[in-house]
Amino acid sequence: MMKIIAFASAALLFTGCFEKKSEAVSHAELFTSDFSKRAFSHAVKLDHAEQDIFMLGKSFFSKPWVEAPSVTTARDGLGPLFSANSCIHCHPHNGGGVALNEALGVERALVLRLSLSHMKNINNSLLAREGFTPEPTYGAQLSISGAGTAYEGGVEVHHRTIKGFYDDATPYELTLPTYTPSNLQYGALDSHANIAPRLALPLVGLGLLERLGDEAILANEDINDSDRDGISGKANRIYSPEHNKTMIGRFAYKATAVSVKHQSADAAHNDMSLTNPLYPSENCTTAQKECNEAPKGRYAFDLPNERLEAIAFYLTHLKAPLAQINPTTKEGRDIFNQIGCNKCHIEEFTTLDGVKIRPYSDLLLHDMGVGLSDGHSDFLATPNEFRTTPLWGLGRREVTSGAMNLLHDGRARTVEEAILWHGGEAQSAKEAFAALPKIKRTLLVEFLRGL
Ligand code: HEC
Ligand code: HEC
Repeated sequence: MMKIIAFASAALLFTGCFEKKSEAVSHAELFTSDFSKRAFSHAVKLDHAEQDIFMLGKSFFSKPWVEAPSVTTARDGLGPLFSANSCIHCHPHNGGGVALNEALGVERALVLRLSLSHMKNINNSLLAREGFTPEPTYGAQLSISGAGTAYEGGVEVHHRTIKGFYDDATPYELTLPTYTPSNLQYGALDSHANIAPRLALPLVGLGLLERLGDEAILANEDINDSDRDGISGKANRIYSPEHNKTMIGRFAYKATAVSVKHQSADAAHNDMSLTNPLYPSENCTTAQKECNEAPKGRYAFDLPNERLEAIAFYLTHLKAPLAQINPTTKEGRDIFNQIGCNKCHIEEFTTLDGVKIRPYSDLLLHDMGVGLSDGHSDFLATPNEFRTTPLWGLGRREVTSGAMNLLHDGRARTVEEAILWHGGEAQSAKEAFAALPKIKRTLLVEFLRGL
């Protein structure tokens, strides 16, 4: 019943955060109230020249790449080792990925990051640039496909069920997945290898997040928890291959990318093995002879700068989701603030060009406890630390992706499960959630599903 009211009155109630009428016009050009599959696919207002770049970027983001050499000049260079042949395969409708298919097999959108985390203090010059030491034979990510060379391996998953109770004695069930490589084609992994699963993130509001000043992000840092609220928050400081210096990270689960261009170049390299100006070498380790000797694309880079920038332009010029506002979601929002969710999922920011946005994230790293730890260190991020995932668009995840899979490895199937996995700095907020009466839990979830 609640839902019907919310949707029926949606057109009137999508008022967002701008009250003045004059601003509402430009607001409509940046935000969308769409809750359909296309929710993350609307362009902001663009002039003709910009539309051309947008369409070029969209095409390189969406169309499948092929292996080199090929008659398709614009889109060869895939592989030899790769995880998927298009960006959109892992980011359906620009949304987040789904971890498992109907037969409970692991989807391509779930990748395994491989590292030697114990090498943290050994190879300093490499770490200064890469943030971690890749596994020596397989590199930084397990490639599940190969073109003209053996793929690296497959991915298997086992689930463990964890049962618990809310304070009002309502039972709940969580599932903890363990992802492991299978059929390894290049021998065993290093005995110290750490395997960190990562589910494709939704590509939401990226242009607006890019337009935040570093100062706005750093203002919420509290590395030593000097206000003693149990929540610290630290920005990741990472190497930017584009700027050749250390900068504040704001994208990806551990805030390991400074810009959308940076993350797109990283994806081109790690997910599709497309050489590009930021990652000029092929995605092969020295142990992979065939991969190194495979035919190369005909140009200096599989993805030249102009095309890489077009992809980033496309992703940064998509409308951001506007939250539903109605009496139910207003109550849910109050609960969100009362139990301290907003200490990390910060509601409002203002971009450098004066746009008020509501991403529900501080873009800082937080210790989320051992329950969520992935064993992987990356620049300043420790194994327990993750960037607060922005929550805008959360209610549109199910329809854009086909299912709601949340948290870095997709283990949560519902908003409630995602909250119940919170620990570490978020332990008290989680406990406050579990202590809420059922009606208040429902209101909170309704609010989140309206984002
Ligand atoms: C094989 C699956 C896969 C493919 C293909 C893929 N991605 Fe991703 N994408 C991911 C995963 C996994 C993450 C999270 C990475 C992390 O946090 O370390 C991600 C994260 C991102 C992010 C960061 C979003 C945020 O909110 O911080 C961007 C931007 C992105 N991908 C763009 C692209 C582009 C552009 C392409 C194509 C060139 C692409 N991706 C191809 C799986 C994929
Ligand atoms: C200490 C900081 C912190 C607090 C407090 C906090 N969160 Fe989070 N939240 C995070 C981080 C970090 C992640 C990403 C964890 C991961 O992916 O493993 C996250 C992830 C989520 C997700 C999953 C998003 C996605 O797309 O995967 C939801 C939903 C969420 N939080 C809701 C809440 C709610 C509701 C509360 C209040 C009960 C809350 N959080 C309190 C830091 C926090």
